Amino acid sequence: MSYSFYIKVYGCQMNDYDGQRIEDILVLNGFIKENNPLNADIVIFYTCNIREKAVHKLESTIGMIKSNKTKVIAVGGCVAQAEKDNIFKRIPRVNLSFGPSTYHKLPEYLNDLLHGKKKRIIDLNNYRLEKFDISNKRKEVTTSAYVAIQEGCDNFCTYCVVPYTRGREYSRPVIDVINEVKYLVANGAKEIVLGGQNVNSYHGEAPYITIGSNRKTWRIEELIKAISTIDGIKRLRYLTSHPKDFTVELMKVHNEVPMLVPFVHIPVQSGSDKILKLMNRNHTAREYLDKLKLFRDICPDIQFSSDFIVGFPGETEEDFNDTLKLVEEAKYTLSFYFKYSVRPNTPAAKMTNQIDEKIKEERLAKLIKALLKDQVYYNNELVGTTQEILITKKGKRKNQYIGKNVYMQSVIINSNENIIDQFKTTLIESASENCVFGKLLD
Ligand code: 5AD
Ligand code: SF4
Repeated sequence: MSYSFYIKVYGCQMNDYDGQRIEDILVLNGFIKENNPLNADIVIFYTCNIREKAVHKLESTIGMIKSNKTKVIAVGGCVAQAEKDNIFKRIPRVNLSFGPSTYHKLPEYLNDLLHGKKKRIIDLNNYRLEKFDISNKRKEVTTSAYVAIQEGCDNFCTYCVVPYTRGREYSRPVIDVINEVKYLVANGAKEIVLGGQNVNSYHGEAPYITIGSNRKTWRIEELIKAISTIDGIKRLRYLTSHPKDFTVELMKVHNEVPMLVPFVHIPVQSGSDKILKLMNRNHTAREYLDKLKLFRDICPDIQFSSDFIVGFPGETEEDFNDTLKLVEEAKYTLSFYFKYSVRPNTPAAKMTNQIDEKIKEERLAKLIKALLKDQVYYNNELVGTTQEILITKKGKRKNQYIGKNVYMQSVIINSNENIIDQFKTTLIESASENCVFGKLLD
């Protein structure tokens, strides 16, 4: 008998990647994917708790699943890792809890539960590389494909749960990454996104030891150069990078590897040295800005995006103004911004001087205004240029499609045919704050 499963994934690209691998492994083991949770034997929530109290949301979502069909309710990912045994107390209907490094074991665990061998299972081990063994067996390959090259983080920024949920940093061996990229390209992928929490501290096992060197690992720039020799890749990106680990060698690779996009996500979080120190970011605002300047000197066409947190404990008006000053100097083309959110068991949660929600909101609104100013400027600069875009989805209107250019900017175009997953050349005709509008040239 085949059992059906429903899966809902919350969170970052790493979680999407994990979610897709979970689908793959279950389908390969005879389970059937179901789109309605009420019709599924197994209901899986793969979660993220980086910025919100995900467990509350989960409690109410699971409460709504009232179906006689449900035999297993599984919670996986960072919330499972953070809640530990507590998850069964908070949500008693959950009978499987699995951490982000355990999903290769799901078929075994599900079979044990479905056949009554066990009533409850929890696995929060960090099996590290084992979960990647199934990476080269996929149900479907998308034109833009994400490949995890590294996972976990040793940086311990004081606001962040990742080092506790994803665990310590480890890198996949070069040969495993290359084999996965080759498999993806052979099956239709054209854009490869090398992903991880801190990809520029990648140190994967080397495929061979270079003569004259006793280094047993490769850095990301060596990995990128090796991947760029694989035929069929049109675009290559990597994210996320930590400013302190950004090397001149990596900057130079952008000039050496034509398919590497001239766009890098380097989150700064704050422009105040005091707050950066309290966040344990290990660099100053000036050091960060100097790196962007050096990068621009080396690659004149490079553009940057960043993440920001406003209202970190102890952030004064002056600290926040330092962030606005940094924004003015850095000139980002795209950014992501968040109000600081207390994450249990992180050092910042215990800090005094937590900031009032209202102040956080006011600061966020001011920050967005400052960021949009640059975004609008860059979007207007695109008007009249031709941009190659990868069409990713349908737009809101009839015949409207949305694609991404190399700068990850959304380009909106019209087409009578379905062009999703294709690369298209477009002429940009007008711009707005969050996107530009173009017409197809081919
Ligand atoms: N509160 C607000 N934003 C956070 N981020 C991580 N932890 C928190 C938190 N506790 C943001 C950071 C990070 C991005 C992935 O999420 O900006 O770069
Ligand atoms: Fe979290 Fe900091 Fe690591 Fe990023 S670098 S995952 S913010 S601890």
